[in-house]
Amino acid sequence: MSNSISYPLTDHTYDVLVIGAGGAGLRAGLGCAEANLKTALISKVFPTRSHTVAAQGGISAALGNMNDGDDWRFHMYDTIKGGDWLTDQDAVAYMCKEAIPAVIELEHYGVPFSRTKEGRIYQRAFGGMTTGYGEGTAQRTCAAADRTGHAILHTLYTQALKHGADIYTEFFVLDLLFSDDGACRGALAWNLVDGTLHRFHAKKTILATGGYGRAYFSCTSAHICTGDGGGFVARAGLPLQDMEFVQFHPTGIYGAGCLITEGVRGEGGYLTNAQGERFMERYAPHAKDLASRDVVSRAMTIEIREGRGVGELKDHIHLHLEHLEPALIHARLPGIAESAQVFANVDVTREPIPVLPTVHYNMGGIPTNVATEVLTGPDGAVVPGLMSIGEAACVSVHGANRLGSNSLLDLVVFGRAAAQRCIQTVDPGAETPTAPQAATEAALSAFDAVRHADGPLSVADVRLEMQRTMQDHAAVFRDGPVLAEGVRKIDDLYARRADFRLADRSLVFNTELVEALELLNLLPQAVATMHAANARTESRGAHAREDFPDRDDERWLAHSLAWVGADGAVVMDTRPVTLETGTAEAESIPPKRRVY
Ligand code: FUM
Repeated sequence: MSNSISYPLTDHTYDVLVIGAGGAGLRAGLGCAEANLKTALISKVFPTRSHTVAAQGGISAALGNMNDGDDWRFHMYDTIKGGDWLTDQDAVAYMCKEAIPAVIELEHYGVPFSRTKEGRIYQRAFGGMTTGYGEGTAQRTCAAADRTGHAILHTLYTQALKHGADIYTEFFVLDLLFSDDGACRGALAWNLVDGTLHRFHAKKTILATGGYGRAYFSCTSAHICTGDGGGFVARAGLPLQDMEFVQFHPTGIYGAGCLITEGVRGEGGYLTNAQGERFMERYAPHAKDLASRDVVSRAMTIEIREGRGVGELKDHIHLHLEHLEPALIHARLPGIAESAQVFANVDVTREPIPVLPTVHYNMGGIPTNVATEVLTGPDGAVVPGLMSIGEAACVSVHGANRLGSNSLLDLVVFGRAAAQRCIQTVDPGAETPTAPQAATEAALSAFDAVRHADGPLSVADVRLEMQRTMQDHAAVFRDGPVLAEGVRKIDDLYARRADFRLADRSLVFNTELVEALELLNLLPQAVATMHAANARTESRGAHAREDFPDRDDERWLAHSLAWVGADGAVVMDTRPVTLETGTAEAESIPPKRRVY
């Protein structure tokens, strides 16, 4: 088929189209393909290069393999408390209960988990994980040494191939295609390898495009983490939810940003300040170094601000594991030992690692219900044909702060749930509605405009301005005047978002054009984050306002929704938090003060 802007198009028709082939996308795709739904996955990188590969410490599930008496209801309690009561409790109950069969299923798929002496899946302690509703320490995080994401991603990839999913590798999705009545009918994609354009018609489209960590200057996220699905959704006039909640991981390597897993502290590692003091004892007397990430990141920031940071500039903190047995480091933490050597020139058996809180995860994203269907707004209505999972989505199992090792779990449990929902709702024998021509033409002309943009700046200039604005104005601690200035700056940049000129206008592996398109996906999410942070006049989880230091359940026990218009207008609204668990097996956990 051709079109008025003369880009020849190849058409493809599927029951299910999954955009993104990381852990969530692969788990959804393999489940659909296994059930004989005609399934395509589109990935802008080779699937095993998706960011899931970087997940280190593990995947949580209350298996109780370490004889700690664990139970999925304890996991649920910890997750709700960790999220500072902004989680939807029905989604959390579902995730924590389904964690157990989902992880056993991964084992059966072939994930090479580390083992206990008895041959069970090895489980380590992670932050905020307890047994007995806040008491004790749970060893709940199932690990494949410190390369758990790598092990899971490779296994899911081979399973997706085995079940016959079609994988379109190094295809970049330009936009979703909607019918006039708002149903998603598929997507338009660009094959980076040969420059051809492809239109995918599908009964269901699942966004599994990951987080938007690259909106910030310093993050543990790969360069591909540009949250493309969030960009498509914002452009379609749909809302983004809870975008103010950005997680800083306490232990990014100072200067490099690479992740050093929380599993280090789970195996007995600890943090010190310039005085050699284990300062977490002052901030979280019970959980100490294994308090939730927001608590540890704030404590580290305060230590640095008050002059107790380490190093010449007193601007970072030390993470110690030199007291651990080298054999344990070799068996359980080989990956971070190598990263510390390469990126900080540190031999972890002899010296501490220099670390700093670093942007790591987006709790917010595309709002969905528990069945992973995308929501149109506060009333729970869904967008026909559109689903979202993983870090791209906000099904709200993480609330205001995610617990470590609940992310791999979210990918697998909700990837599986999306496949189950497709199996329930897609009739493989029925005709697939076609993606409309008008939507296709609009997406093509937007692509053509970016390709031929002729502004005064480079893509890198605009991106750097966005990243510095986010880093400076929506950081670990936030304050009214700083946020207001951040809103002014990011709005101004959004208005100038296409003010770049490409040096390369070709269609074959044009990485500059990819970066321009990714930037245009990142920017509305940066705008939504800044506006939502400015609007939420309380402190909760990862959103710590110096001018509003307390949690305010009366006003703010609510999800935020942000619509970012093409003209830069931002509309904010709220949606109630679900406090009911949706199951007689677990009671609702009413909000209370959160201490560790
Ligand atoms: O610290 C880590 O290994 C990260 C895990 C996570 O973000 O879930």
